Amino acid sequence: AGGRLTDRFGRVHRDLRISLTDRCSLRCTYCMPAEGVPWIAGSDLLSTAELVRVATVAVEQAGIEELRLTGGEPLLRPDVVEVVAALAALRGPHGAPEVSLTTNGLRLPKLAGPLADAGLARVNISIDTLRPERFLALTRRDRLADTLAGIAAADAAGLRPVKLNAVAMRGVNDDELVDLVRYATEHGYEMRFIEQMPLDAGHTWERSSMVTGPEILERLAAAFTLTPLPGRGAAPAERWLVDGGPASVGVIASVSAPFCGACDRLRLTADGQLRSCLFARTETDLRALLRGGADDTALVGAFAGCVAGKLPGHGINDPSFLQPDRPMSAIGG
Ligand code: GTP
Ligand code: 5AD
Ligand code: SF4
Repeated sequence: AGGRLTDRFGRVHRDLRISLTDRCSLRCTYCMPAEGVPWIAGSDLLSTAELVRVATVAVEQAGIEELRLTGGEPLLRPDVVEVVAALAALRGPHGAPEVSLTTNGLRLPKLAGPLADAGLARVNISIDTLRPERFLALTRRDRLADTLAGIAAADAAGLRPVKLNAVAMRGVNDDELVDLVRYATEHGYEMRFIEQMPLDAGHTWERSSMVTGPEILERLAAAFTLTPLPGRGAAPAERWLVDGGPASVGVIASVSAPFCGACDRLRLTADGQLRSCLFARTETDLRALLRGGADDTALVGAFAGCVAGKLPGHGINDPSFLQPDRPMSAIGG
């Protein structure tokens, strides 16, 4: 017990991102069509017992130290509080895993308190715009007020630091970056801007509509004094202090400045497929192993096999790049 998941390039994997569902309560234009996507069938989803078993083996025997719940929208899973409680109770050779969650926030007014009590450490919440009409156009749902209430509920429940995510989009919200930072800093949240990645269900991503990290910084630098923060480690976000701090802002420039060389992440889809990368073209079928009666050693072996096949990077900038068949909502964010 207590082995490490090290790949061919020496990267040690400490972070498992677990998708709890591929469904979502919003229909962001950069993610899904209005009618949604063909959902994963219920019988194909990992049961909670199966999911907890995978996480237990990962934490106790494979060196995983952080568990991130994603989706789809993870708070749509009916027993999400029980899932968090089970994961937060795990103990591995490195202690208790940090359990956190990335959400659209809509259900946080109801769930932030119970999630915090269950052992959730913190949340990242998506908010691409602060304008109600824009929110409606972008997410196809008139729910900005609920998102804002969810953010406040997370803060009140102590799920801190609260980090806010916005995908920067040309002609959509790129005139609002400064407003988003002001809103976040006023409330003590960290705003992060994300380069759009080719992961949408419609395969419509175009490099030219991606607002790049340097462009984001240029817009921010016109309004704030930005001081680079060291110590990024394996984190996707590069961070700056805003006007001397304490507020900070982050930029996740996956495409223009890939951070794959420091990647420590694996992903488990809601249907039990282990992926070594968002952009991996192969998956390791843990669900088949679980349902076939595999023992823990076989599961650890499957983790190791997945990591052994991990490519050095996402390859988005290679001429031969092919977008994964499954969209982000099915892979997990
Ligand atoms: P923190 O631990 O709070 O810093 O979270 P995070 O930024 O790693 O995760 P979050 O779920 O908030 O994701 C923010 C953005 O980063 C999303 O667009 C994710 O898809 C993206 N992201 C997270 N992990 C990876 C990764 O390993 N590779 C790439 N390319 N993008 C990632
Ligand atoms: N590229 C980058 N980020 C994306 N997200 C969703 N789709 C994409 C994409 N194609 C973001 C969401 C959320 C986080 C989990 O990922 O807005 O904040
Ligand atoms: Fe890791 Fe793939 Fe993300 Fe690169 S794109 S950081 S290899 S998960």
